[in-house]
Formats: sequence, structure tokens, C-alpha cells
Amino acid sequence: MKITILGCGNMGTAYARSFRKYGLVKAEDLLLIIRGEGRRTQLETLGRVAPEVDPSISESDLVIVAVKPQDFGAIAPSLAAVLRPGQVVLSIMAGITLQRLKDSLRHTTVVRAMPNAPAQIGMGITAYATGTELSMRQTLMVEQLLNCTGRAVHLADEALLDPVTALSGSGPAYFFEMVRTMIATGIRLGLEPHVANALVKQTMLGSFHLMEHADRSPEELINAVMSKGGTTEAAFKVFAQGDLAGTLDRGIGAASSRAKELSGS
Ligand SMILES: NC(=O)c1ccc[n+]([C@@H]2O[C@H](COP(=O)([O-])OP(=O)(O)OC[C@H]3O[C@@H](n4cnc5c(N)ncnc54)[C@H](OP(=O)(O)O)[C@@H]3O)[C@@H](O)[C@H]2O)c1
Repeated sequence: MKITILGCGNMGTAYARSFRKYGLVKAEDLLLIIRGEGRRTQLETLGRVAPEVDPSISESDLVIVAVKPQDFGAIAPSLAAVLRPGQVVLSIMAGITLQRLKDSLRHTTVVRAMPNAPAQIGMGITAYATGTELSMRQTLMVEQLLNCTGRAVHLADEALLDPVTALSGSGPAYFFEMVRTMIATGIRLGLEPHVANALVKQTMLGSFHLMEHADRSPEELINAVMSKGGTTEAAFKVFAQGDLAGTLDRGIGAASSRAKELSGS
């Protein structure tokens, strides 16, 4: 298999490293389009590097577009000029619809995916939607590649990428905000910063694994920690007064609406 990755920032580089790590592509079959000279030197051990869209892209089975959405307009015409029918173009750009990909690239076999930040360490989750033009073999190829960065979920309806963006795309930031706040509160209550850090991070890690292994719902797990008149209940009373659940619901809803707005759908 031959792969091109266009744009090697956080995500493009994560894909390149994962594909090489799992042996899905040989270095000579991986083409990385990187415009910064320093970055090209840094990444040249992963594959072949080129400073701009290159005619040899037409030899790739898959072309991953991993530039920022606002940079897509500038590279689309040169990319359209070198694509050959049948190549799969996989975009991870937030908000760029399948229709816009098809129109701008004058190409039909396109995939739109929404990964998230933990993909950088192989623990991401990516939801993706394909145009109807993709064959089963091409869809399986995409799924196999996305699985290198964590898990992959196929969506029958592209519009669902808006709530996906709000849940798993932005989700890591919600989690970091929770961690950041808990550590700051621990420090305010008198703990040494390194102790507050260790307590919060290990609590998050342990709680995740408990949830995965306990075979109980989040509600049941909350009730198992909370006793009547106890400390957790005291915290939850304040959370309810501040409508924490409603605030989260409205925040995630706003993220989903913004995703819809950005994709112009
Ligand atoms: N990060 C996330 O958690 C996340 C989650 C879901 C989706 N995404 C999507 O993934 C895409 C990439 O995100 P990112 O976080 O990896 O961004 P990033 O770190 O800014 O990477 C984008 C890269 O594209 C390069 N680039 C821009 N124009 C180029 C061109 N004409 N030729 C070659 N390279 C070009 C940039 O190069 P320079 O450094 O020279 O500017 C940069 O290295 C975005 O579209 C974003 O919507 C990201």
C-alpha cells in the first residue's frame, strides 16, 4: 500500500508514526508533504518527504489531508490536479463536508473523519463517513488504517459528525478542564501541587478502569461511592445547585451546533 499525508502537524505526524509502527506501509511507500524545512529534516526517517503537493501523489492508494480547515482552500487546486480516479482521499479536517471535498478536489472517492487528540498515542477514537462511491475494499482499508490510532466507528449519516465532534473531538478538553480544576482545588485546600496532581490523575485513571471492568452503569458507580449524609453527597448537592449536568449538556450542545455551523450544513 502507498500512502501520502498532506500536512504533518500533530495529527498528520501521529498517523505517519502509527502506520510505520504497525508496519502498514514501508518508508519508501509513505510520502509526507511538509512545508517547513526543519520539520522535513525531523521526519525524513519516517518516509519520503516533499515540500509541496507533488505529482508522485498520484501513485498513492490513500491520500490523507491533515492541514487545518482554513488551509484547505489554498492547497485544494494543486491537489485536485494530481489526483487520479480511484485513489481514496481521507480528510480529517473539521467541518469540511464530503460534498465540499468532492467539489474542490473534483474527486469522488472521499472519506471524512473526525479523530481526537489521544490518536497521537494510539488511544484515539475516530468516527468517519464515506461517500457512496467507496468500495467495500476501500472502506476496509480506511478502517484498518484508522484503527492504528485507536478505534474507528463508521457512521452511515455524515451529519452525525457534528455531535461526534462535540463528544469525542472536543471531549479531551472537557476532561482536561475537570482535571485542571480538581488539581487547583486540591492545592487551594492545602495539598502540595505534586500530591494534588498524583491524586487527581490516578483517580481518573483508576475510575476509568473500574468503569471498564465493573460492568455497572456510571449511575450505579456514583451510587456505590456516595453514602447518605457523606462527603460525595455534599459535593453533589453543590453540583446540582449549579446545574452541573445541565451546564455540561448545554456546553456539548453548543459545540455540536458550532460544528454544524462551521461545516455550513
Ligand atoms: N488536534 C486534534 O485534536 C484534532 C482532532 C480532530 C480533527 N483535527 C483536524 O486535524 C487537522 C490537523 O490538526 P493538527 O492539530 O494536526 O494541526 P497542526 O498541528 O496545525 O497541523 C497542520 C499542519 O498542516 C501543515 N500545512 C498547512 N498548509 C500546508 C501546505 N500547504 N503544505 C504542507 N503542509 C501544510 C502545517 O504546516 P506549518 O506548521 O508549516 O503551518 C501544519 O504542520 C485539522 O484540520 C483539524 O481540524 C485535529
